[in-house]
Amino acid sequence: MRLIITGGAGFIGSALLRFLLQETDYKILNIDDLTYAGSTETLKQFEGNNNHNFEKINIRDLKSLKSIFERFKPEGIIHLAAETHVDRSIDNPTGFIETNIIGTYNLLECSRLYLKSLKQNNFRFHHVSTDEVYGDIYNKPSSTEMDPYKPSSPYSASKASADHLVRAWHRTYDLPVVITNCSNNYGPYQFPEKLIPLMIINAIEQKPLPVYGDGNQIRNWIYVNDHVEALMNVFHNGQTGETYNIGSRVEITNIEIVNLICDLLNKLRPDPGTNYHDLITHVTDRPGHDKKYSINSEKIEKELGWLAKTTIEQGLEETINWYLNNKEWYKSVLDNNYNLQRLGLIKTL
Ligand code: NAD
Ligand code: DAU
Repeated sequence: MRLIITGGAGFIGSALLRFLLQETDYKILNIDDLTYAGSTETLKQFEGNNNHNFEKINIRDLKSLKSIFERFKPEGIIHLAAETHVDRSIDNPTGFIETNIIGTYNLLECSRLYLKSLKQNNFRFHHVSTDEVYGDIYNKPSSTEMDPYKPSSPYSASKASADHLVRAWHRTYDLPVVITNCSNNYGPYQFPEKLIPLMIINAIEQKPLPVYGDGNQIRNWIYVNDHVEALMNVFHNGQTGETYNIGSRVEITNIEIVNLICDLLNKLRPDPGTNYHDLITHVTDRPGHDKKYSINSEKIEKELGWLAKTTIEQGLEETINWYLNNKEWYKSVLDNNYNLQRLGLIKTL
């Protein structure tokens, strides 16, 4: 199979590539623009693998994408490339509109024109999206695929827009698509702006652990390899035109997750002078902060037989050990532009 993966130099895209290159003989074309979130350090693990080809392309560039489709002749695309950090979308939404909306539109158009010229339908467009499109559900148990979209941040609004485009290209042009909406991922190679790697690295470096507001916001946490298995399952077995929610059974508050990280660090990296819990600091809340996401995954569990396997204790322990053993990786992705400082604190009107 000839497959395009967009965003393969990022966190989830690289986990998907690790799986595909180990478990299949698919020919992969990895399209990534290597923004701050996609690094050549992450790509090093794929060096020498003939099934992995890399093209540094910005998905905002329709012309380059068209020529890639004509040359590579994909049988499918799994689209992950995006601007992904809510706090950055608060500071500067432009890139989110351009990459997440226009970039997705470009890929849809390329796929449509390519299929039209081939006059065949042996193709699937898998759009990877987020549970944040359903918005804050503090007064509801969980979000199903039938729930209305109510995004809160520029990031989630841009992902919601992209989901709408994907559905429209299916309904209007018959483009064979599937959409997945997943909850908060964690695991190796996650850029340190996100909660879990930020807390682990700050703790290792003996810096304060900044919890936004009271820390009682609820998230559903899924280990990245469980997400990858769900993506593969939906890509191969999902029904064309359908959406599948993906999440684990782990629903906890931010303060609970930070305390769990501290407990594990006290065990895995004991330091006689440090109790990691003492580093926890409550800081000003995120503007527009969603209090609760909770994803209902019954559809994928019942229809496709997928279930998240990793417990939060197992997943966090593996993740903490990975960051402890890969300090050169996280040091290589930090620079003068981003060095673990607070983002998204713009003054609201
Ligand atoms: P990430 O930020 O780690 O990686 C994004 C990748 O996309 C990077 O390699 C970056 O270089 C690339 N990219 C960004 N803009 C690009 C552009 N214009 N052209 C080409 N490449 C570009 O993101 P992630 O956490 O791995 O998320 C991957 C996808 O999964 C995203 O679509 C995100 O919305 C979705 N998602 C993420 C989570 C999560 O918890 N991380 C949960 C649900 C859904
Ligand atoms: O729900 C899926 C989404 O999860 C993905 O679509 C996004 O790409 C991904 O970034 C993530 O969004 P969140 O905003 O939930 O993730 P983040 O890691 O930024 O924050 C998780 C929670 O922790 C959130 O309630 C804000 C809080 N937080 C975050 C940071 C960075 C803190 O309390 N302190 C922090 O320093």
